[in-house]
Amino acid sequence: MTTVREVADVFGRAAGVYDSVIPFFRRFGERLVETVGVGAGDEVLDIAAGRGAATFPALRRVGEGGRVVATDLATPMVEALAAELGDARNATALVMDAQSLDFPDASFDVVLCAFAVMFVPDRAAALAEWRRVLRPGGRLGVSVPRGANEEMLFFGDVARSFAERAVRPLPVPPQPFDLAPELEAAGFRDIEEEDDEQEFVFPDEEAWWAWLQSQGQRVFLEVLPPDAVQDLKAECFARLRPHRAADGFHLFQRARYTTARS
Ligand SMILES: C[S@@+](CC[C@H](N)C(=O)[O-])C[C@H]1O[C@@H](n2cnc3c(N)ncnc32)[C@H](O)[C@@H]1O
Repeated sequence: MTTVREVADVFGRAAGVYDSVIPFFRRFGERLVETVGVGAGDEVLDIAAGRGAATFPALRRVGEGGRVVATDLATPMVEALAAELGDARNATALVMDAQSLDFPDASFDVVLCAFAVMFVPDRAAALAEWRRVLRPGGRLGVSVPRGANEEMLFFGDVARSFAERAVRPLPVPPQPFDLAPELEAAGFRDIEEEDDEQEFVFPDEEAWWAWLQSQGQRVFLEVLPPDAVQDLKAECFARLRPHRAADGFHLFQRARYTTARS
């Protein structure tokens, strides 16, 4: 069982390098903001905002007449995001659990949650909160990863094969779930789903390895002693190598964007 605190702490340790290797989360954050149709003057809440993959595109769209509040449970993420937001008059970053929001009812026109809802253990409580802080008719946009090209999906298997060398139990990855019926049960309406795929290129194996450590999957490395990490790295590179194209390794990552109204 991985606790909410443990999840946030993993991301806290990644905060300094998060999304710095390829523009992975930024690309999906931009698409989420487009899909929801954040517009001028909107008041937007970005939940589990990380380093602002959806916060910054939302901020560009709301303009001077709107505002964006970004929240996350990992303090280092919030501190890094706040530093990047600088003195933007209409943007704030706050430490807050997605399951319990410290805002009055009907505070926002749009609530966003990019690539994070799967880490929230009590989704029913969270969705009720997200709906509570939306104004009547307000828009929700949630994105989740939906798999990738087969040849880039080896890491879970490799990590599991190192379980015996782990100094702590391997974390349990988020389990698949269907968000639309959960949104309906929470009282949302006009629920729509859209899927897409984004392509990223790692110029070499080391770039892929750096990317792994810049996001949540680093948790699997954190439970291994250094010699096991080196062996795991060698095994991952052996799995990658046969798939090398002229310019490197291609990741085709799929995502689902679910939108709804309160
Ligand atoms: C994969 S990252 C996504 C961050 C950002 N939305 C993006 O698209 O880059 C997941 C984020 O969820 C945050 N998180 C995990 N559990 C949370 C919770 N219960 N409440 C708030 N944030 C949480 C983590 O700290 C992390 O920043």
